[in-house]
Amino acid sequence: MIIQPRTRGFICLTAHPDGAHQAVKNQIEYVKSKGEIKNGPKKVLVIGASTGFGLSSRIAAAFGSDASTIGVFFEKPASEGKMGTAGWYNSAAFEKEAHAAGLYAKSINGDAFSDEVKKETIELIKKDLGQVDLVVYSLASPRRTHPKTGVAYASVLKPIGQPFTNKTVDFHTGVVSDITINPVENDEDIANTIAVMGGEDWKFWIEDLKAAGVLAEGVKTVAYSYIGPELTFPIYRNGTIGQAKNDLEATVPVLNDLLKDLNGKSYVSVNKALVTQSSSAIPVVPLYISLLYKVMKAKGTHEGTIEQMQRLFADRLYTENGEVALDEAGRIRVDDWEMADDVQAEVAKLWDETTTENLSEISDIEGYRKEFFNLFGFELDGIDYEKDANENVQVPSIE
Ligand code: NAD
Ligand code: NA
Repeated sequence: MIIQPRTRGFICLTAHPDGAHQAVKNQIEYVKSKGEIKNGPKKVLVIGASTGFGLSSRIAAAFGSDASTIGVFFEKPASEGKMGTAGWYNSAAFEKEAHAAGLYAKSINGDAFSDEVKKETIELIKKDLGQVDLVVYSLASPRRTHPKTGVAYASVLKPIGQPFTNKTVDFHTGVVSDITINPVENDEDIANTIAVMGGEDWKFWIEDLKAAGVLAEGVKTVAYSYIGPELTFPIYRNGTIGQAKNDLEATVPVLNDLLKDLNGKSYVSVNKALVTQSSSAIPVVPLYISLLYKVMKAKGTHEGTIEQMQRLFADRLYTENGEVALDEAGRIRVDDWEMADDVQAEVAKLWDETTTENLSEISDIEGYRKEFFNLFGFELDGIDYEKDANENVQVPSIE
């Protein structure tokens, strides 16, 4: 079938298998161009492996240090006459490329929050890898069913305390407008968001993996966080999602205790703001990202998810002397180039000036839009979108 983008708000309902394959190949080429990640991971479990930072983590590990990878994700499979989701096609492409390179790669499609998927993953590790030496936790989800209580939690993206008014952009139309987001009405919204995006599920994973004996001596685990500029604090870091990130970050010492007898370590890496399926859903943030891209591209410091994850592995997690540089709060920072004073000063200045009329001139809204479509396999160079695509592309390891 011929597959074209079809959007509803910040969601793209369609995905292109050949474009997704091309995007994965581009990421692989980037990692190869940077050379071997010395002392890199060898047996890796990536939870949230099909898109965004998780997919790039998987690619960086596999093609940067020849790692065997198991990827866990929640995607809609493709079938005859029915399109799969972008993450499905990404994972199909990743496995195909990994297998062609002689690398072990298998995937599990299901709810990572469930005990069942944890069990299935542990069985697969036992059968094929014995143990893993890196666990990447990169889930982003609007909801979670708690595995012990069955309670279904939904996260919200809201400020806490006061309403928040600021600029936002509709990146399809380029219209800049003011948006007011009302604060949470009760503490339950905060607790629910923490239950979905906080650290409890990461802890459950590490507890189960450890109890099953599938974590190697010296194992590392990393989860991803975000801080960003003051102008997004009310909706991000000081909002409901920020409380969940605080909880995630507070899980690090808990996991360090748990991993002590294995000489294992847990980390949170604060990553850069980037266009992903998750970040496009947050108000205000897409306008910030399109200004940030403009400034960072001009300075030559712009990175995408693959550049970020390659740098995380090569320069932070797996260094020559084994030391991992942390900030005063104990976090890895690969948002360092985003948060540089000169970058932030320029973004803040542009932020005040931005209008619908000057948007395409002073921001990289076009780059934002293109990257958004790239996430779904569209607008990739070298793909003929007028040609029939084979929608029925499968992830080789999944029956
Ligand atoms: P994403 O939406 O691209 O990826 C989410 C992944 O989680 C996908 O692989 C999806 O299949 C998987 N997933 C979701 N629900 C699942 C479930 N129930 N079971 C199994 N898999 C499930 O998101 P992303 O932007 O790459 O986010 C990953 C992490 O990085 C998040 O913690 C996010 O907060 C963080 N982060 C994002 C940004 C950003 O700007 N995008 C910046 C810093 C940190
Ligand atoms: Na991810």
